[in-house]
Amino acid sequence: MNCISLTTGPATRVAAEIFKETAKSENAFATNAVIETILSRSAAKYYDATAALSDDQIRDLVRIGTSAPTSFHLQNWRFIAVRSPEAKARLRPIAWNQPAITDAAVTFIIIGQLADASTVPARLAPVVEAGIMPAHLVPDWEIPARGLYDDQPQRQRDEAVRSATFGAAAIIYTARSLGLGSTPMIGFDAEAVHSEFGLAEDEVPVMLLTVGPERAGNWPQKPRMPVADVLDFA
Ligand SMILES: Cc1cc2nc3c(=O)[nH]c(=O)nc-3n(C[C@H](O)[C@H](O)[C@H](O)COP(=O)(O)O)c2cc1C
Repeated sequence: MNCISLTTGPATRVAAEIFKETAKSENAFATNAVIETILSRSAAKYYDATAALSDDQIRDLVRIGTSAPTSFHLQNWRFIAVRSPEAKARLRPIAWNQPAITDAAVTFIIIGQLADASTVPARLAPVVEAGIMPAHLVPDWEIPARGLYDDQPQRQRDEAVRSATFGAAAIIYTARSLGLGSTPMIGFDAEAVHSEFGLAEDEVPVMLLTVGPERAGNWPQKPRMPVADVLDFA
């Protein structure tokens, strides 16, 4: 790889040290387990339809997934694990009849909740209890959150989509690191999923996410546009 030269400020000096460490061998990035996980993921179309994940395995995926960041620590998300044959049969016809819905061990309905600043004190209470954040700082988070989201429906919805997407991404890479395939899906009828699975009025079905052991035939990750086409320095 090309080593990146970073020469300014203490933070960039730390970054430069990390890059230097990483670049010590030709294929250093290939030996970094996290980067390997990211680079080896691809969207799985074919799943082992005989495979199942236990409730505990599904809980682990969501527990690790919810370590993703959210604005003001809102954690404005919810996950429905569609894994019984009966629930899969209800979901598949409203998800473009995609076979992966019934083949994958589980399909998560990744739900974003409209950002609601009044939830900030409750979300921060465990942070205060853990001794991470002093209690007197809670209003310093709640007040700007109110300024950002109160009476701002578009922003509330944007935040629902952002949070849910971060959560889904964390589940995707957790799954990959455990040897499981996954595919995020927008091929579904959002209104039908909303009513069929009893989502609340402030909940948005942001995407479906199939997860499970794969069977043969999946494509590897597709080539991406060159970095030069997608990166600007400012
Ligand atoms: C938001 C989103 C929606 C997607 N919807 C579907 C879908 O409904 N069905 C499907 O088979 N793949 C779906 N995909 C997978 C993409 O087609 C796939 O990620 C893309 O072709 C790149 O392939 P790769 O991830 O394997 O490199 C979706 C991906 C994203 C990020």
